[in-house]
Amino acid sequence: MSDVSYRKAKAEDFPEILSLIRTSFDGVLREHGFFNSSPFASPKLPAIPQQSFPWFDMGLKEDGEGFWIAEVEGKMAGLTLSWVRGSLWYLAHLFVSPEHQGRNIGQNLMEIAMKHHKSAGITNRALVTFAYNPVSISLYARHGIYPREPLYWMEGSSQQVKTDASNKLTNERIVDFEKARSSLTRIDELSLGYPREKNHEFLFSLPSVRCHLFTTGIQPVGYAYVWQNGRVGPLATVSHEIFRDTLRSAFQLAKAGGAANVGIAATGSNEQIMQVALEQKMRILDNYLFMSSKPFPNFSNYVLYPTGAML
Ligand SMILES: CC(C)(COP(=O)(O)OP(=O)(O)OC[C@H]1O[C@@H](n2cnc3c(N)ncnc32)[C@H](O)[C@@H]1OP(=O)(O)O)[C@@H](O)C(=O)NCCC(=O)NCCS
Repeated sequence: MSDVSYRKAKAEDFPEILSLIRTSFDGVLREHGFFNSSPFASPKLPAIPQQSFPWFDMGLKEDGEGFWIAEVEGKMAGLTLSWVRGSLWYLAHLFVSPEHQGRNIGQNLMEIAMKHHKSAGITNRALVTFAYNPVSISLYARHGIYPREPLYWMEGSSQQVKTDASNKLTNERIVDFEKARSSLTRIDELSLGYPREKNHEFLFSLPSVRCHLFTTGIQPVGYAYVWQNGRVGPLATVSHEIFRDTLRSAFQLAKAGGAANVGIAATGSNEQIMQVALEQKMRILDNYLFMSSKPFPNFSNYVLYPTGAML
């Protein structure tokens, strides 16, 4: 068997990293019959750019110790990217190219990723994987990260999004991250319990997504990111009582922004997401699984997206 070597990722690797992720992703979708339905199959994604990889740029800058490449005969065979915020460790990517799978590369990359930490000790580890891939699920479970929550990727036509006259929430689009920093941090503290400023800052830097802050009276009570393509998330509220209205408003904002479709990662334990998604005739197109070493987060007030990155 050929030798496998491991090294840290570099900016020059980014196009190849994205290409490997897509090939590996497509392989799982094909193997399990989700290639045609999943909106994440490569034919439905934009072409791979030769430059401008803001997500990987941030990975290298903030979490270079968690960004690794596996090579076989000098060619990229796998990669991992984990990020750490406070005491939370999150595995954003672990992919091995189909021709190199089953040769311990995934396990070795996982062991390297597990060592990634910053000053504070890690108290929880989390990730999202395919709900139907026993290889990845068992690999993570062997590292103490267990299945917690089903995630159904749902989409529907924005024509089905109804205006809701009883909705009492007001919202404001926030353009300047600094203006919203303290409100977003407070909402995250109450809903998730981990600092996520870096992730918010990153989302604010993207032209394809808008952040809306929701208010009842004077106090901000929730936020929602609404993507140009109609996807919603991350979204968080300080209480479950206002979750449904926040979600409905976010879909309306997506529709008002001109998106043809709306989409969301619906978590199994949050009945309101499923109910709102189904009232808008959304359909399940792909299935994922949230795994963590300890139960987390409280999905009754939180919508996770993008699934891989949990921004
Ligand atoms: C998941 C993935 C990263 C694992 O990497 P890999 O290099 O193929 O895996 P490894 O060879 O290191 O280990 C696979 C292990 O899973 C085990 N395994 C395989 N099928 C299994 C099953 N049905 N149930 C339980 N364990 C299984 C293997 O036996 C092996 O363990 P062992 O060496 O103790 O026998 C890789 O297969 C991959 O990229 N898959 C597609 C993308 C993906 O699912 N990524 C992760 C989610 S984002």
